[in-house]
Amino acid sequence: MGIVTWSDELYGTGHETIDGQHKRLIQMINDLHDSLAKGQVTEGMKSTLKGIVEYTQTHFADEEKIMEELGWPELDEHRRKHHALLRDVRKMLMRLKSGETVGPFELLGFLRQWLLEHIEGEDLKLRKVIKTSSATKSPKPV
Ligand SMILES: [Fe+2]
Repeated sequence: MGIVTWSDELYGTGHETIDGQHKRLIQMINDLHDSLAKGQVTEGMKSTLKGIVEYTQTHFADEEKIMEELGWPELDEHRRKHHALLRDVRKMLMRLKSGETVGPFELLGFLRQWLLEHIEGEDLKLRKVIKTSSATKSPKPV
């Protein structure tokens, strides 16, 4: 089950590490969907979202390092977008932590849009440099 299905064509940048980490984030959103479907609303939402925030920090740092290695000219702008994304997801976590009721559909819709819009609109721009670069192999396991 799940709400997002990975597809190389739709979401793949062609970089092993970046794609592996994006797959894991999509899996985390799908896991959240599944736990909500089982009725594990509040606790499931808080702990999964906390995990997503933590993993996203690692992912963004890795992705920015890769972009630096690739000599990506839009790195500064991309960094700013990552900051904004982290701020938005942290804000959502704070809402949950403060006891505010966030509907499961609102959270899932937010996360789906939050991640996929960024991948499709920004990360996929890397395709053009990754295709011509040899620096696509991950030095460490994903
Ligand atoms: Fe990114």
